[in-house]
Amino acid sequence: MKVTVIGAGNVGATVANCVAQREMASEVVLLDIKEGIAEGKALDIWQTSGINNFDTRVVGVTHDYSRTEASRVVVITSGLPRKPGMSRDDLISTNAEIVTSVTKNVAEHSPDCFIIVVSNPLDVMTYCSYLTSEFPSNRVMGMAGILDTARYRAFLAEALTTSPKDIQALLLGGHGDTMVPLPRYTTVGGIPVTELIDNEKLDAIVERTKKGGGELVALMGTSAWYAPGAAAAQMVESIVKDQKRILPVCAWLNGEYGLKDIYLGVPVELGKNGVERIIELDLNEKETALLHESAKSVKETMDVLDKLRAK
Ligand code: NAI
Ligand code: 2OP
Repeated sequence: MKVTVIGAGNVGATVANCVAQREMASEVVLLDIKEGIAEGKALDIWQTSGINNFDTRVVGVTHDYSRTEASRVVVITSGLPRKPGMSRDDLISTNAEIVTSVTKNVAEHSPDCFIIVVSNPLDVMTYCSYLTSEFPSNRVMGMAGILDTARYRAFLAEALTTSPKDIQALLLGGHGDTMVPLPRYTTVGGIPVTELIDNEKLDAIVERTKKGGGELVALMGTSAWYAPGAAAAQMVESIVKDQKRILPVCAWLNGEYGLKDIYLGVPVELGKNGVERIIELDLNEKETALLHESAKSVKETMDVLDKLRAK
């Protein structure tokens, strides 16, 4: 069984590395348009197999989609990353062109695959891939919520001096400053987080989470890759192993949460049929208002894409 990763940059190579190390597939194909980069990184990852003890073959190709034929899952990471001073939305037209051309090739060579989009701006690039592929919506989804909750869990673990493994958390909405962390649904070893930390500290962590991507861009001059790559790989694993994990995923809504025809982060069950179920939480008034505000801002970027595609 084959998993393809498009874009052999920072995030793509990390996804390929995680998928191979955890033996989620028999083969990982890494594809890029830059001559030699995917071949080189794939060879480098493959040369860790004897050390890290895996037998997933890792192969790199330059724009040769025939090598991706019949992939079960394709992760799209191709596109420009943010630079300091840029918002995710600044990337929309350039990355829409890239995601459109990549998705056409993916759909042609792997018509039955599941697509996980990582390229930013995430929610609208997922929409772009959905429109282009003409796949059913359960087969096209975006990665953001797992990353955002992982950041939130890491910050909480530091503040509580506890293990991030014991922190369960959930987050809704778009991948941007309007994301909606839900402290009410955060537990530490089964204990509501609100019993372990005061509101002021929790609010500060929520705010830091919302700006978590920007914090890393400011430090490194480009966006993050270890946590984004691991997060996308976790989605691959849940699909290929039919784990049916409940994860926050950017999914197509069809009336859930009172929202329709929009890609937005919600808790889903992820299994062999992709997005198998969208879980609707009983949100309070404040949470609903924040989610709808986030949806409004995502919808605006989707409208920008619709206009670009109409040209
Ligand atoms: P990068 O610049 O390291 O890698 C991007 C790669 O895509 C480059 O190697 C480039 O040659 C390749 N590429 C460009 N056009 C292509 C095409 N048409 N076909 C195949 N490959 C192509 O960037 P990085 O850091 O890997 O980020 C990739 C994307 O993921 C960016 O848009 C970034 O904003 C996004 N991102 C999203 C996150 C999320 O939570 N959803 C988190 C982190 C990054
Ligand atoms: C991140 O959150 C920039 O979307 C990227 O790291």
